[in-house]
Amino acid sequence: MSETVLLVGGGGREHAIARALDESDADLYACAGNRNPGIAALAEEFETLETTNPKAVVSYAEDVGATLAVVGPEGPLAAGVADALDDAGVYAFGPNEAEARIETDKAYQRRFMREHDVPGCPDFETFDDVEAACEYIDDYDGDLAVKPAGLTGGKGVRVVGDQVTEEEAKEYLRESGYDRVVLEERLVGEEFTVQAFVANGDLRVTPAVQDHKRAYEGDEGPNTGGMGSYSDSGLELPFMTEADYHEAVEVLQSTVDALSGYKGVLYGQFMLTADGVKVVEFNARFGDPEAMNTLPVLNTDFLDVLTAAREGEDLPELSFAPKATVCKYAVPEGYPTDPEAGAKVEIDEESVARSVTESSNAETRDSAGDALLFYASVDERDDGIYTTTSRSFAVVGVADTITQAEEIAEDALAVAGEEGLDVRHDIGKPDLVQRRIDHVAALRGE
Ligand code: AMP
Ligand code: GLY
Repeated sequence: MSETVLLVGGGGREHAIARALDESDADLYACAGNRNPGIAALAEEFETLETTNPKAVVSYAEDVGATLAVVGPEGPLAAGVADALDDAGVYAFGPNEAEARIETDKAYQRRFMREHDVPGCPDFETFDDVEAACEYIDDYDGDLAVKPAGLTGGKGVRVVGDQVTEEEAKEYLRESGYDRVVLEERLVGEEFTVQAFVANGDLRVTPAVQDHKRAYEGDEGPNTGGMGSYSDSGLELPFMTEADYHEAVEVLQSTVDALSGYKGVLYGQFMLTADGVKVVEFNARFGDPEAMNTLPVLNTDFLDVLTAAREGEDLPELSFAPKATVCKYAVPEGYPTDPEAGAKVEIDEESVARSVTESSNAETRDSAGDALLFYASVDERDDGIYTTTSRSFAVVGVADTITQAEEIAEDALAVAGEEGLDVRHDIGKPDLVQRRIDHVAALRGE
């Protein structure tokens, strides 16, 4: 029986999910607040609706006769969209509202780790009074990370000794209006992500990815949702050992064991420190951009994972193409502090696909690589495609090595057209990757 899948969400991550489902025997329907032209081109139908309104999503799922749903972003999960779909008899691959608290409530998340002895938990305290938190900052011996407990799109954390001083951290808290905050030990090291498919007590992990949160080249500027990311041809990244990767997987396994009944993607954000692998946070969904690194190299049929999850079966073992990937986002000028929404973007999608075979660089032409374009938070209107306040589109290079994948991504950006948009060109370049390797070697005293 062919499946009718409803995809919820209209960003780059969801375009990557749509493309993975397009390779399966699925009839795809999609809904999001913005009309993503990449998803719309792959779907039977694209409905613009408020995805944090469970009734609206369920009503659309019923209209199209969905047999499965994939919920991409955290907002709908936090609003109980997966619960509402499940209640309506449409299996949602995504955790229910209570389980999504592993992402949506950072105070709950840390207490959960402590209660269940999940390894890799930093020293932390939770507060529901800003003045008490400020006092803790004054008294604490060492640097702290200041984290609002709720969702902030990756932009709420301030790290003392890195982005702010103690005084600025206190000022930030007092001015923010946040009522619940987590203060935790500042972790020093290299960050990486491991995402896993979870259902029926099974965990199936995917290759590690490194995202780049800071807005500007050289890891400067404010935090963003993520400016781009890379993965290597195996499970680890160049600055990690196999043992580091397995330490992260053990954290995920121990989390899933403690969360009975979790379904969907469990995303671990880790810091590789001098004392091993620590947890920065968990997310209850694929990463954005990380989904764009992972799904294009997934050889296993994504729909098989979803149907096994729904049927209560063992999840299939995953297989991945042995390819490196580099993803670079083009974002509106001024993102994330003062983004220019409503600017028209001209994207030459066709040329991106041809950019590898038509490259002026012979090595790129011979690389047997791929260039992919993912639309993100743009809005397609009758007269063209417009920026919103969020990330606009991403290109992904797929090749044997990170260096080749990076070159392919740059060629793709050049033909896609990035005028009026900002890009972190340093992501995936040999210099930056080497800095990561040197950083970890220095932490380990090598
Ligand atoms: P989050 O919203 O928890 O993903 O945090 C955003 C970013 O803040 C992370 O990707 C890290 O770069 C940084 N961060 C969060 N927690 C810590 C910590 N305990 N120590 C150092 N940096 C952190
Ligand atoms: N790339 C970070 C996130 O998806 O939260």
